[in-house]
Amino acid sequence: AKVSPTGATERSLPLVRDARSQSGDHLTTANGLRVDDTDHSLKAGRRGPSLLEDFHLREKITHFDHERIPERVVHARGAAAHGVFTSYGSAASATKAGFLAEKGKQTPVFVRFSTVLGSRGSADTVRDTRGFAVKFYTDEGTFDLVGNNMPVFFIQDAIKFPDVIHAGKPHPDREIPQAQSAHDTFWDFVSLHTEATHHVFWNMSDRGIPRSYRTMEGFGVHTFRLENAAGETVLAKWHWKPVAGVHSLVWEEAQITAGMDPDFHRRDMADGIENGAFLEWELGLQLLPDTPDEMFEGIDLLDPTKIVPEELAPVQLVGRMTLNANPTNYFAETEQVAFHLGNLVPGIQVTNDPLLQGRLFSYLDTQLTRLGGPNFTQLPINRPHADVNDNLRDGMHQTAVHTGLAPYLPNSVDGGGPRTADASEGAYVTLPTPTTGEKVRGAAVSFDDHFTQARLFYVSLTPLEQDHVVEAFTFELAKVFEKGIRERMLANLARVDTALAGRVAVGLGLPVPEAVDLPEVAPSPALSQISPVPGPVA
Ligand code: HEM
Repeated sequence: AKVSPTGATERSLPLVRDARSQSGDHLTTANGLRVDDTDHSLKAGRRGPSLLEDFHLREKITHFDHERIPERVVHARGAAAHGVFTSYGSAASATKAGFLAEKGKQTPVFVRFSTVLGSRGSADTVRDTRGFAVKFYTDEGTFDLVGNNMPVFFIQDAIKFPDVIHAGKPHPDREIPQAQSAHDTFWDFVSLHTEATHHVFWNMSDRGIPRSYRTMEGFGVHTFRLENAAGETVLAKWHWKPVAGVHSLVWEEAQITAGMDPDFHRRDMADGIENGAFLEWELGLQLLPDTPDEMFEGIDLLDPTKIVPEELAPVQLVGRMTLNANPTNYFAETEQVAFHLGNLVPGIQVTNDPLLQGRLFSYLDTQLTRLGGPNFTQLPINRPHADVNDNLRDGMHQTAVHTGLAPYLPNSVDGGGPRTADASEGAYVTLPTPTTGEKVRGAAVSFDDHFTQARLFYVSLTPLEQDHVVEAFTFELAKVFEKGIRERMLANLARVDTALAGRVAVGLGLPVPEAVDLPEVAPSPALSQISPVPGPVA
């Protein structure tokens, strides 16, 4: 030990004790003071007033008062599980992403399923889109695949997200959700923003009321750009194929379940995992040539309201995910997890899809508020499994005790500090894709067709599935008070399928809308849940 000129020895006690969870057998205050009685406040006389000096009472109640954090502005109701992703190695020719490259490579994952519109306390089996967000804790950094159980979205540009969510959320005056009261605002939006038509058809189909999380498909929705080790690129869409097949509830089952067991989906997942009935999906990719126009067979790959039919570009399976462990603590894991599309790894890049571009901003922005400042990647569930040396410092809820003097680069004080890498050392290098054009608001002409793919979806369903769509539209639109909105919706339905529009009109007691010329579209069998069902995978 070092000895100072006065004879004092170097300090050997720890400067900071890094113990974040609970320890010891005794009840203590937050400062480690043992408590003698936590059932009675300090009073002036046993029947007298409570005293302000009772620091234990004040701390206990103050902490409780602040236990809740804001719920997510969308996707507030969710349930999650831990698992493992095992690569088949088959994606190596398309992407250099380490977690996909090597056959048999295992990566821990955390997956949160959610409904979009309901609050944290709403029911699981409502008709809605489901979130399907997967966090891969890879060796190269965290990769988040933040998808839904439907392959398309309501809007083509992120600037409309506040509009579609405001239209769908409970009415501002009485906070009564759309599903229980007037549906006017949602259908007003949908009838005026015809780009929502395709997504709404998925919502009104059986896909809107899944039987279980384990029987949902998942989709990354947007087109991504993959890069392999040789620097070759390909465009790609992500798919999750449930090993148990795709299954839904029928409407009456969903209604009864929402009343009798609002936790139906989360219970099914938690009980299943506890009993060894794990949830499984295969991850698949549709690979599409990376052409300068980013189109495929006339489909604009930057338009998130469009799919690429699997008959034109088959889904190639690249790995399997098994969810096999329940969270230990709902708040610490399911509530505090933060997904973000910008969590990418080498080999996976974004495209100019205007919805994707806006999402790249929104998630980090909202989490700064929801999780109380910029340090939420230090929360256990969000901590990367890769090394972190980020030069980010201080801020609300900083829990790290950083060492060193020079959190800046370059420096000559801390031995130079962490160094940047190049691609050969695993750095994420943005692909130099060409960008030209005038600075304008507006969308490409190729975004204008809002009905053909809704028609493709509808004609691909079996007659029974089509009946369910007719019944769903009739039920929902019957709750719309404004006749003008109902009529506008009927006119839009007529641009998808004449017979469908006629049946819904009859159900609503309104005039059948005028028939319009509709394009011939070849059904895509993969869009039906009933035929063919993706069976168990060998
Ligand atoms: C949350 C998917 C579009 C903003 C989520 C979640 C999912 C998701 C799965 C829940 C994440 C979790 O479990 O914590 C999608 C998909 C979209 C889409 C698939 C379209 C393809 C958008 C757009 C915006 C947006 C366009 C905004 C411009 C948000 C926000 C949250 C969220 C603010 C809450 C995040 C949080 O509080 O942690 N989204 N979303 N989303 N999304 Fe989206």
